[in-house]
Amino acid sequence: MVTLELIILVCLLLAIISIVWNTLITGISPMMSSGKACQAMLASIDGTVKGPLIDLGSGWGTLVIALARKYPRQQVIGYELSLIPWLVSMIWKYGLQLNNLTLYRKDFMKADLSGASLLCCYLFPEGMLSLEEKLKGELSNEIRIVSNTFALSSFQPIKVTKLNDIYQSPIYLYHWVPR
Ligand SMILES: C[S@@+](CC[C@H](N)C(=O)[O-])C[C@H]1O[C@@H](n2cnc3c(N)ncnc32)[C@H](O)[C@@H]1O
Repeated sequence: MVTLELIILVCLLLAIISIVWNTLITGISPMMSSGKACQAMLASIDGTVKGPLIDLGSGWGTLVIALARKYPRQQVIGYELSLIPWLVSMIWKYGLQLNNLTLYRKDFMKADLSGASLLCCYLFPEGMLSLEEKLKGELSNEIRIVSNTFALSSFQPIKVTKLNDIYQSPIYLYHWVPR
């Protein structure tokens, strides 16, 4: 009995260390979008999306799973570096039999995003700057970008939705047209 408790304790400790380590590496914890934020992000996408929908840093799967359920005929992709949240999202994916959802344990900065029709993110200011540089060099097609809380610095959003939460968190919608 004591051995089992010890094993569980060690597993929990390893999981916490893994999450903290990845938070230090990526610069953001796997904090999930709130229910209100997910709803607002989904609502800001119009119904005519074509091409893959991608969550950049899909965390525990909260948003990417909602996307895959809302758009069962679209290819939905999540990129996540942190092992434990990624494993949990994989369990959800198989549990809910979401065959249109692919979850990569991979750095989205190294992924080819050129074919996407929609990018979703909930990152942090420096992460948004790096993403913006990547998109400027990579995208040659029009694309929608939905960002929870953090804005792109050199683009004007076409819509900003303020959530009814204590921070009045903004949800930014961009229509990215390559310059
Ligand atoms: C705040 S969470 C958002 C999770 C999810 N998108 C949501 O809205 O619920 C941000 C996630 O992005 C991940 N992340 C940050 N930079 C990344 C990168 N370059 N490649 C893959 N994942 C990354 C972090 O590990 C973290 O889990």
